[in-house]
Amino acid sequence: MGKIGTDIKQAAAFLKAGQLVSIPTETVYGLAANALDSIAVSQIFEAKHRPHFDPIIVHAHDLDQIKDLIVDLPPLAEKLAKLFWPGPLTLILPKSKSIPDLVTAGLDHVGIRIPRHPLTLKLLKKLDFPLAAPSANPFGYISPTRPEHVDEQLGDRVAYILDGGPCQVGLESTIIGFENGDPIVYRIGGLDLDLIKEVAGPMRIKLNTSSDPRAPGMLKSHYAPKVPVVLGDINALIAQYPKEEIGILSFKKQYLPELGTRSMVLSPDGDLRVAAAQLFDMLRALDKLPLNVILCEWVPDLGLGKAINDRLTRAAARD
Ligand code: TXA
Ligand code: MG
Repeated sequence: MGKIGTDIKQAAAFLKAGQLVSIPTETVYGLAANALDSIAVSQIFEAKHRPHFDPIIVHAHDLDQIKDLIVDLPPLAEKLAKLFWPGPLTLILPKSKSIPDLVTAGLDHVGIRIPRHPLTLKLLKKLDFPLAAPSANPFGYISPTRPEHVDEQLGDRVAYILDGGPCQVGLESTIIGFENGDPIVYRIGGLDLDLIKEVAGPMRIKLNTSSDPRAPGMLKSHYAPKVPVVLGDINALIAQYPKEEIGILSFKKQYLPELGTRSMVLSPDGDLRVAAAQLFDMLRALDKLPLNVILCEWVPDLGLGKAINDRLTRAAARD
């Protein structure tokens, strides 16, 4: 009710007053609060039902602003920052005292990124503090890629939803940290790993699972709809389930067109960027239907396809 709009001044006023505002980014919508204000940040955890051991990414508008938030910017991190920011990349860097422990869940490193969305960059420039923002969804559910997604689930928890339209990338940022100076991939995401490798060389991939509570966003089951998701060969799966109970999410081929909106195609042209941008929106749409199961197939495992397959695997995980 008047909560969704493009009024940056309004959004800034709420944030200055310590309230929550949902912000558009190129990856997914964020649930933002003043990153330097523990009380404001604590509301993020409450609104999302997010466990306090899960650290939150801090969003800034330029490298200068970031320099106050960290104690060191290793040369490789600076190179990646200059090449890929603003963009779908989060760097894990040693934090300065200005970042409250609540933001990093007590860790001595903070996740930082400069998002590539004109409205949010304008908003960040208006503020004299950075914004802590996880994805604006209840913990464990699919991330929001449209303002309506935020409104449906967290509308009564936010003061305002800044409407930046549908997210262009549609997958959360790629997360890179450093161990003994070596770059490590903690989350495969919206920035193609091959592009990072061109600069950083080969990287170890350390996707956290439920056995490692340090990055619970990477829990085995995450990004999960309420309707169970089953991944595999769609024709084989169709044979296992009664037709009236299934929804389908395929890559480029349409299966059982007679199912209408219950059978969705990520990208009829087979474009992985389009598929990434559609993924969460289509999963949400299917999750609203009275289905017993959503049948999905993997997409080609290259470039952004790796991130899509990661999210599909977690959506299908049951523990
Ligand atoms: O694209 C994105 O990254 C979006 C937009 C809003 O920026 N944000 C996002 O935040 O996906 P969230 O909280 O849903 O996922 C962030 C992930 C979590 O898995 C968290 O554990 C990890 O980043 N993370 C954040 N800070 C960290 C830190 N200091 N050390 C290790 N992992 C961290
Ligand atoms: Mg999230």
